[in-house]
Amino acid sequence: MKITPASIAFNQQGTPVATEFDDVYFSNQDGLAESHFVFFQHNGLPQRWQSPSSLPFVIAETGFGTGLNFLQTWQQFVESGQQAQALHFISVEKFPLTRADLAQALASWPTLQGFAAQLIQQYPAAIAGCHRLEFEQGKVFLDLHFGDVDDIFSDMACPPDGLVDAFYLDGFAPSKNPQMWSDSLFSHMARLGKPGSTFATFTAAGFVRRGLQAAGYSVDKVPGFGTKREMLCGRLENKPLTQSDSCWQRYQAKPASKQVTIIGAGLAGANLAHALAKRGIEINLFSQAEGAADGASGNLQGGFYPQLHVAPSHSSLIQALAFTYAKRTYACLLNDGYAFDGEFCGVLQVGFNPEQQARIQSLAERASWPQDLVHWVDVDTCSELAGIAMPYPALFIREGGWLNPPSLIDALLQKASSLSPLTCHYQHRLQHVERLPQGWLLTFDNGVQHQCETLVFATGAESINLPLLNALPLRPVRGQVEHLPSQGQLSKLRSVVCHKGYLTPAWQGRHAMGSTYTKGDMARDVRGAESDYNLSTLQTALADCDWVGEVHGDGQARASVRCTTPDHQPIMGAMPDVAAQQQQFQTLNQRKAEDIALAPSTLPGMYVLTGLGSRGLCTAPLMAEALVCQMYGEPLPLGQTLLNALNPNRFLLRELKKSAAN
Ligand SMILES: Cc1cc2nc3c(=O)[nH]c(=O)nc-3n(C[C@H](O)[C@H](O)[C@H](O)COP(=O)(O)OP(=O)(O)OC[C@H]3O[C@@H](n4cnc5c(N)ncnc54)[C@H](O)[C@@H]3O)c2cc1C
Ligand SMILES: C[S@@+](CC[C@H](N)C(=O)[O-])C[C@H]1O[C@@H](n2cnc3c(N)ncnc32)[C@H](O)[C@@H]1O
Repeated sequence: MKITPASIAFNQQGTPVATEFDDVYFSNQDGLAESHFVFFQHNGLPQRWQSPSSLPFVIAETGFGTGLNFLQTWQQFVESGQQAQALHFISVEKFPLTRADLAQALASWPTLQGFAAQLIQQYPAAIAGCHRLEFEQGKVFLDLHFGDVDDIFSDMACPPDGLVDAFYLDGFAPSKNPQMWSDSLFSHMARLGKPGSTFATFTAAGFVRRGLQAAGYSVDKVPGFGTKREMLCGRLENKPLTQSDSCWQRYQAKPASKQVTIIGAGLAGANLAHALAKRGIEINLFSQAEGAADGASGNLQGGFYPQLHVAPSHSSLIQALAFTYAKRTYACLLNDGYAFDGEFCGVLQVGFNPEQQARIQSLAERASWPQDLVHWVDVDTCSELAGIAMPYPALFIREGGWLNPPSLIDALLQKASSLSPLTCHYQHRLQHVERLPQGWLLTFDNGVQHQCETLVFATGAESINLPLLNALPLRPVRGQVEHLPSQGQLSKLRSVVCHKGYLTPAWQGRHAMGSTYTKGDMARDVRGAESDYNLSTLQTALADCDWVGEVHGDGQARASVRCTTPDHQPIMGAMPDVAAQQQQFQTLNQRKAEDIALAPSTLPGMYVLTGLGSRGLCTAPLMAEALVCQMYGEPLPLGQTLLNALNPNRFLLRELKKSAAN
């Protein structure tokens, strides 16, 4: 879905007005006071923040608009001095303001300036789906979903007991925006609300009151703000008996334990440790080598960019959302003083042959992606951005660049250990896993045994050696990257260039030039034939560059193994119990997976994050965050449709469906 920005004007009082809806974003009288009165007070806040809970307090809003309600709530949360609980604010916006309009609209609130500046800084590009922003050192989360509220709420995963504590039912007046105030919205509120969850809204429209009552809410009509006579607020008294999550496992019946064991110290393992530590979870991380970043994540320079299709397919939406999330995560690490090597110097995807030129041309013409994510540049601009002659049109991903995964992993682990107890056990190769009545017993090659309730595999391509992960159709793919000495014109390269392979600006006197793609090969020796292949791929693809013929290597390279999947998507979630599911889903061929309301059997307390393929720098942070939310019953930063595309169960369900049909 393409996201259309809001069309707004500012009236004489300086209040933003949506021209299409002919309605104000907030009261002309005093928008801030109205927000506090209607939404905050009438949801029983801040009093409801007094009871400590390990789960975040979740507010869901219809219509983010200028973010005034969010900023006001965030400010109150900080002033409440609440320490024990996090605030998780979910908001949906169909027509996002541009960053410039947002800044102008928020300039009216001097008391909120500190908060507004942080929001404006992190405000995401207009990509459909969920953008998770974090503030107050992870105490305040904003999930800003771009899309229609009906689509977003219906696609929102929800634990059996509900997700939301309080709803801010905003949106333009029902008379000006009747499409939004639908029975479908009210029934989604009842599905997503926890028993006893509350709502408040500025309107007193009769059909809104009746719709909410029919959905299970008790509704009170109370005096409205300022000159408004009445408004509505209420409580979810009759939570509908919703079926579980369908046969896609999104949440477990009970949250994971407060101690977690991770196997693997690559990008997946380090991002998991970071996401768990932010929640105060105690971590034991085991890995086989002498230190972290020994596997695929040990490359000197990796390109950081999303793999986008011309149209926003599920896979490219995952890439785009993961990329922007990763960028915010990396910026936050740097901000917090955790340094790593790399440069956000932009990535050029060059149209080096007619087929690629047609692809980038049509991606630009379809304009499915916002310009601040990716934009088309002509031949001259391409050379200017590259810093050397690059006579091709290209797509430019301005926020991308290259990163040094080992130092990034180090920064993630350092930050994790500053937030929560983290013990890294290196030189421990996992050999055997035994199921216990209460968890798992791990045996390592050095004889050490370790018992745990919650176990996450982040074992990259070597996952194929672990019998418990046999059910996953993982495919190892060897790759060799050259470390070219910086030389001649090449030394002036200042953006990452992607053609059939990729080439990075120099770091420590060398450029990364990659890479080969040898399926099924797990060997990690450096091969002269692959160096020749990498060089000739560069010289053939970029044959129009006058400098390319003189490029030469000196045999320095690194080889490692990617972990890929048949559908090229990562694998993230609870580990399926194959034998049990073969019994459970015998009738799958007659029904859609979505129609079977039966939680699939998974191995208790066992999770997996792998299959990051060739884009781990882009996808690992969001995959880790989503997995941790799933483990602890928190709101998920991805909708169900995209979660299904990542679910470890997807292969098994497809197989069961196919075999039942035959
Ligand atoms: C040649 C090449 C070029 C690439 N270029 C890019 C790029 O430009 N941009 C990009 O984003 N991505 C790139 N990638 C992909 C990226 O490197 C991977 O997606 C990422 O590193 C995967 O991280 P991971 O943590 O899943 O796996 P790994 O980094 O392989 O980590 C797996 C970890 O598990 C441990 N482990 C495995 N089995 C056991 C066991 N039994 N016991 C104990 N420990 C175990 C390993 O020791 C290791 O620490 C490239 C990959 C290759 C191979
Ligand atoms: C009155 S404004 C919200 C003001 C906002 N809460 C604030 O604090 O600034 C209403 C918002 O709802 C959005 N909206 C309207 N219909 C929608 C829909 N169907 N789905 C999602 N958002 C919608 C509008 O684009 C607008 O931004």
